[in-house]
Amino acid sequence: MTTAVCPGSFDPPTNGHMDVIRRSVSVFDRVVVAVIRNLSKTPMFTSEERLEMLDDLFADEPRVEVASFDGLLVDFARTRDVGVIVKGLRAVSDFDYELQMAQMNHRLSGIDTVFIPTSPEHAYLSSSLVKEVGSLGGTVDGLVPGEVGRLMKERWSHER
Ligand code: PNS
Repeated sequence: MTTAVCPGSFDPPTNGHMDVIRRSVSVFDRVVVAVIRNLSKTPMFTSEERLEMLDDLFADEPRVEVASFDGLLVDFARTRDVGVIVKGLRAVSDFDYELQMAQMNHRLSGIDTVFIPTSPEHAYLSSSLVKEVGSLGGTVDGLVPGEVGRLMKERWSHER
């Protein structure tokens, strides 16, 4: 049985993340979605909120577990018996840094990284772009899962 880890900031989870996680489930037996707790920049959602959102989004998928982590991804991966790291690739521009991380993670732990190409309809999506568009009054409909969009709008309505 192979367990994969899909790590990320997920601030917030987008439809691109959903696509890569769902496709990981179709390839691997078990998928641990790993939410990094401490972000260098101030997050829109706390790690507890990000974890809860993903938990709800995958509530009907028993092969997906959602957890949060601090420190090195590979240290977390070892505690969960993870055999492979899965990353989505949107474009060639993602590849340089992802390759560096994959090689470093392999050196540190022997754990390999598998890349899943993002579906073309999500290729331009990123959490930061979604936040920018939404915070400036643009619609986030179709970019993030419905409930995530609702929570984002709620957050902005308090800030305005
Ligand atoms: O969604 P993101 O922001 O692209 O996710 C980046 C993440 C969390 C996958 C990456 O920053 C990470 O793995 N951080 C954990 C710290 C770590 O292991 N650093 C060494 C990477 S080689």
